Amino acid sequence: MKKILVTGSNGQIGVELVRHLRGIYGDSNVTASDINKPSVSDEGPFAVLDVCDGKAVAEFLEGSKVDCVVHLAGILSAKAETNPQLAWNVNANGLYTVLEAARARGCSLFFPSSIAAFGPASPQKNTPQDTIQRPTTIYGVAKVAGELLCDYYHLKYGMDTRGVRFPGLISYAALPGGGTTDYAVHIYYKAVAEGKYTSYIAKGSFMDMMYMPDALGAVVQLMEADPKKLIHRNAFNISAMSFDPEGIAASIRKILPDFKLSYDVDPKRQAIADSWPDSLDCSAARDEWGFSPSFDLDAMTKDMLQRVPKP
Ligand SMILES: NC(=O)c1ccc[n+]([C@@H]2O[C@H](COP(=O)([O-])OP(=O)(O)OC[C@H]3O[C@@H](n4cnc5c(N)ncnc54)[C@H](O)[C@@H]3O)[C@@H](O)[C@H]2O)c1
Repeated sequence: MKKILVTGSNGQIGVELVRHLRGIYGDSNVTASDINKPSVSDEGPFAVLDVCDGKAVAEFLEGSKVDCVVHLAGILSAKAETNPQLAWNVNANGLYTVLEAARARGCSLFFPSSIAAFGPASPQKNTPQDTIQRPTTIYGVAKVAGELLCDYYHLKYGMDTRGVRFPGLISYAALPGGGTTDYAVHIYYKAVAEGKYTSYIAKGSFMDMMYMPDALGAVVQLMEADPKKLIHRNAFNISAMSFDPEGIAASIRKILPDFKLSYDVDPKRQAIADSWPDSLDCSAARDEWGFSPSFDLDAMTKDMLQRVPKP
């Protein structure tokens, strides 16, 4: 990766990934882009780019001599269920559009799939890398299509496509954009501000999660991995921990002993959570490119409670 375009860069991942990539590859070599201008401008180049506008994306890649696209633009799971047509257009057609532009220019491409690419028929515990994938959300359907499309572009055109299945990502720099695992971010903000949190996800609902610094490291590690060692490409299971609301609350109470957790379960987001794995098998990522996250739940909790903004 030398000249990188990041799409959807105003989002939860993009805000931090752009900064991380600029620290490695240089400010001027990483262009951030989104459908809207960012509310706060960072150092380095930014372009307004709609990923569904193939002509604009192709012209930008050519004009800026981009050699790698990190394609983050998308509509997240819970938001996608409120407008499946928009979600399909951005998540599936947008990926196809960017793949075509990247193929024409000879770029490599990173695509973030999700634990949402699994469904109720997938094994729920220690979900294997290669297993049945019949998701029941439009977000998951588009992610499976995206994984297959990226593999197809590699097989058919030799394009260097690589991707991971991100679990729920927890971070403090930008708020999450309407996913099912957002509660695991909100809980820290409320713990610091009010000492209590009401969870829309039920007790006993385990989902995979990861702290943002490990997610950023994984993107670079995978994109820089020796291609000869990659048996898989799209998309590697990765996760650093699996917990339910009680587990994260217990971790918070080690630092804030009076923290209180209550429940007001949202049936729509709960149904999505119930269709996803409890925990992933990440052995392919470990074996093929050395995936090794450094934050466990308590280390993440300690860091988050120090860093989330105090009211
Ligand atoms: N955050 C997570 O926990 C998580 C987990 C698994 C996978 N992912 C995937 O990672 C990617 C980024 O996630 P995120 O959490 O940063 O999402 P986000 O919702 O915070 O940000 C997505 C960004 O995409 C932009 N966007 C929407 N439509 C666009 C379009 N037509 N053209 C250009 N930009 C457009 C939005 O403006 C937004 O800034 C998504 O593909 C998401 O599915 C995220």
